[in-house]
Amino acid sequence: LRGEDVIVVSNREPYIHQHSGDKIEVQRPASGLVTALEPIMRACSGIWIAHGGGTADRDTVDRNDRVAVPPGNPAYQLRRIWLSEEQVNGYYYGFANEGLWPLCHIAHVRPTFRSGDWAHYVAVNQKFADAVVKEAKTKDPIVLVQDYHFALLPRMLREALPDATIITFWHIPWPNPESFAICPWREEIVLGLLGSSIVGFHTQIHCNNFVDTVDRFIEARVDREALGVTLGGKKTLVRRYPISIDWPPEKELLAKPVEQCRAEIRQKNHLPANHAIGIGIDRLDYTKGIIERFRAVERLFELNPEWIGRFTFVQIAAPSRSSIFEYKSHETLVIETAAQINQRFGGRGAPPIILKIEHHEPWQVYEYYRAAELCFVSSLHDGMNLVAKEFIAARDDQRGILVLSQFTGAARELPEALIVNPYDADQCAAALQLALVMPLTEQRDRMRLMRGLVSEFNVYRWAGRMLLDAASMRRRLHLVE
Ligand code: G6P
Repeated sequence: LRGEDVIVVSNREPYIHQHSGDKIEVQRPASGLVTALEPIMRACSGIWIAHGGGTADRDTVDRNDRVAVPPGNPAYQLRRIWLSEEQVNGYYYGFANEGLWPLCHIAHVRPTFRSGDWAHYVAVNQKFADAVVKEAKTKDPIVLVQDYHFALLPRMLREALPDATIITFWHIPWPNPESFAICPWREEIVLGLLGSSIVGFHTQIHCNNFVDTVDRFIEARVDREALGVTLGGKKTLVRRYPISIDWPPEKELLAKPVEQCRAEIRQKNHLPANHAIGIGIDRLDYTKGIIERFRAVERLFELNPEWIGRFTFVQIAAPSRSSIFEYKSHETLVIETAAQINQRFGGRGAPPIILKIEHHEPWQVYEYYRAAELCFVSSLHDGMNLVAKEFIAARDDQRGILVLSQFTGAARELPEALIVNPYDADQCAAALQLALVMPLTEQRDRMRLMRGLVSEFNVYRWAGRMLLDAASMRRRLHLVE
């Protein structure tokens, strides 16, 4: 892979510069996409184009709107794109996050489509496409387009750079054609994506849903055997590439011994030294099933009162998209639910739920992973969910239990987790109870198998498989020509 040929496009940037008093701080955002892509970019250099959304982002770039990252140990270039407030409202909050996000997750939040948002979405896709063309050093670069913010960009790019290898990865689920049909711009979205050489999803179901959607709405030749679509003589492969994480994790994340993490986290949260802890780490998003998770904890206390005062669930919730109404009202509900359960089962002892709605850096998150008896991922629908894989990576002591929603892509790869339906509070409470009393030998057996899988199918394997498929596709095209 020639680093200078690789261009990543995503909305979210991997490093955000923020003013903090008279200093400038660097933040790593809570984003599965960034978690996965960042180690790939460090390994192959190249350029990452993303929206510059930090308050100090403009003060940290050069004349070409670029900054070398990671700060302190630069390995690749981050090229920032500036968007106006109207563009951010229309393209990001509006069409991407009030339209496509609920449309694809089917999490009982009705999608909102406004033509004004759509116009911004089209314009911002064009703006990023222009930036890719400008940054490309050859006429056949490899462009890795990330996620639902850029459904139109692949076709725009294909027109400008016909020889480019465009790999588009859709990090969120793809619904069935009936559900997708409610989007007023369904044809445009699908046609846009078909500008790609490859469209990737985490699971086979999402690939099949996408191919069914193409078949329903577009005049194209659909090959279900080879999972490809041919449109105007150009072929797009539709393939499953389950995303993963860096392995082994960065050294600093595992530097503090597990015993020390256990002691410090309990101390910091005013919990006794032998107190049992469960951990949830998410963006504060209605698709993550945080309310359902709290209800399961409540049910655990109802069914197994011996845990009252002996078990606490710590929920770290990174603030996210909070200017959207659904997110604000969900936040209120999360706070109220936690308070209600704490009142019911808290008494004067340890609180059943500790809720921390604030940004945590990766090293802080890893301390919690390492300190906990169990990690509970209860998404109502999730493309992959990398928290599940990070918890496994964090547990080099081979202890800890993962309780995992069956509606995540990760559940298909990790049968050794305790797989649950987050809508079934009784089943979740039973899984929490099982996790809390599971013998160490069984914990170790399960953890060993899961660590084996994540270490082998790590994020380098994910990127490698896509690039290999793209290369052989390209070779075949050249042979035909
Ligand atoms: C999901 C999306 C990513 C996004 C992340 C964080 O994982 O698939 O594209 O970056 O959420 O959301 P945000 O809107 O803060 O970037």
